[in-house]
Amino acid sequence: MCGIVGYLGHKKATEVLVEGLSKLEYRGYDSAGVAINTKENLEIRKFKGRLSVLSDDLEKNPINGGLGIGHTRWATHGEPSDVNSHPHFNKDKSIAVVHNGIIENYLELKEELQNEGYEFLSQTDTEVVAHLVDKYYKGNLLDAVYKATEKLRGAYALGVICKDNDKELVAVRKDSPLIVGLGENENFIASDIPAILKYTKKVYFLENNEFVHIVDNNVTVFDMNKNIVNKAINEITWDVESASKGGYEHFMLKEIYEQPNAVKETLIRRLDNNKCIKLDDIKLTKEDLEKINKVYIIACGTAYHAGLIGKYAIEKFANIPVICDIASEFRYNNPFIDNNTLVILVSQSGETADTLASLRYAKENGARIMSITNVVGSSIARESDDVFYTWAGPEISVASTKAYTTQVVSFYMIALDFGMKKEIITKEFYDKTIENLKSIDKKIEKVLSQEDYIKEVTKTLNKKDNAFYLGRGLDYLVAMEGALKIKEISYIHAEAFAAGELKHGTIALIEKGTPVIAILTQENLLEKMISNIEEVRARGAYVIAITKENHKEVEKSADKVIYIPDICDNLSTVLTVIPLQLLAYYAAIQRGCDVDKPRNLAKSVTVE
Ligand code: M6R
Repeated sequence: MCGIVGYLGHKKATEVLVEGLSKLEYRGYDSAGVAINTKENLEIRKFKGRLSVLSDDLEKNPINGGLGIGHTRWATHGEPSDVNSHPHFNKDKSIAVVHNGIIENYLELKEELQNEGYEFLSQTDTEVVAHLVDKYYKGNLLDAVYKATEKLRGAYALGVICKDNDKELVAVRKDSPLIVGLGENENFIASDIPAILKYTKKVYFLENNEFVHIVDNNVTVFDMNKNIVNKAINEITWDVESASKGGYEHFMLKEIYEQPNAVKETLIRRLDNNKCIKLDDIKLTKEDLEKINKVYIIACGTAYHAGLIGKYAIEKFANIPVICDIASEFRYNNPFIDNNTLVILVSQSGETADTLASLRYAKENGARIMSITNVVGSSIARESDDVFYTWAGPEISVASTKAYTTQVVSFYMIALDFGMKKEIITKEFYDKTIENLKSIDKKIEKVLSQEDYIKEVTKTLNKKDNAFYLGRGLDYLVAMEGALKIKEISYIHAEAFAAGELKHGTIALIEKGTPVIAILTQENLLEKMISNIEEVRARGAYVIAITKENHKEVEKSADKVIYIPDICDNLSTVLTVIPLQLLAYYAAIQRGCDVDKPRNLAKSVTVE
């Protein structure tokens, strides 16, 4: 997601900003820009593309000044372009703003401002902030930012500078990250520590609704009522390399830990009034839905596994038959596609070659095309009739983690919306499921808090070359993702089986010490799963069970039990996958594997 850096000090601001922005590149971005106070005016340079486009330009035509703000943008509102890049500014370019987050009520604010004569140049939500600060600015920048933020709904970290004072920087955060770096006669703001680590290891971590006022060498933090907050200085002990992973040893672990926030983003951006699902980027009407007689879900790898949960949810909540297929197989399977077919493509990157080819095939054959993707403006997004962005933020590790959980949550939302529009589910069920979805981030956190225990459990996989993942119903679908995860990063051969199928052949492979990871969360299948566990244990298997915290009886049948918080059966998938990700991660660490870059694999598979 977007990266922010701000600087006020004795160095040349452009150099500090470009250096800082380069350390935020890992977040993913499509454009970059800076605004510098030159004492005469604010000079703004911003370009679509890599950071080098900006730095080359600054090298050719330098800007002098010790106050500036910089930004790397990961497009949300409006395509990647020079004009949509940050910083954004007011009419006479005397105020400049960088922003990370989403202003949810920007359309409403834009209309109000337009009625007052403000003109908008970009398609972004951020531009409203520049005009709002302009509207309230009467010589006091901090006051103007306070007044502007009173109008904003949504998430934001903002950096604001004004032409009138080359020794003043204002910043504020709400639900988007922002820190303050404290140097010797120089100070910084940034989205993340790596951006400033070259200059200082002393930082303030800002809380929500805290405002920062940097004037000359003084940094003051205020709360939302303009009271001064006495912040503790934190000394950072990481080096630059590990800090770009936010202190985590690997991007995979960082992304596992980002899941509570990522699923929350997927959800809240489409909850109207915090209650009803509003799929505003999906144009499918109730009438369109009535005509759809079947859905195809097409994807590869982890995205395919998320699609299997999507099939379950759409069939159960919306009563539409769904076929879920692997993208590299779909076109060769004689698919039944016509004008009444909805095809949903799932892809984190939006660039996977087989998924894109399937999209084009389905389109040529008359299907309506919807995609679930994470990357704004990707090929799959551009070629779809409707797009559901997961808003997971950039996923860098080859092994998908937060992509999966956000895709699964996306499917639940789509299925609930379809079910409600088609009047298949009751309002009571709809409301209750949304409430359950809203609590899922906290429940993921609770699973993550067991990391040390899960790490310990993983030791039992040491020196094993095979593992079996078992489940029934939804648990079997998650088992498939668990098996893929451990295969791809630890190179342990693992397969998932529908637990009842085992005795039709595979149980022959179970011998003393064979690891079996058994998932059992579905109330109606619990007893049957326990019997399946007993069957493999009787043949010597070492069983690690994952179940809900109220099923302590499982301890009698399994060697180790990992508990997830209580949750309705339909949504347990989002929780059971977390220990499976951690098991895979620690198995890979134990075996000395390169976790983020497993052998033979690429993050985005752009060949068929
Ligand atoms: O970018 P996509 O979601 O289309 O990628 C599809 C698969 O290549 C991907 O899910 C892959 O299986 C995962 N990286 C595995 O963890």
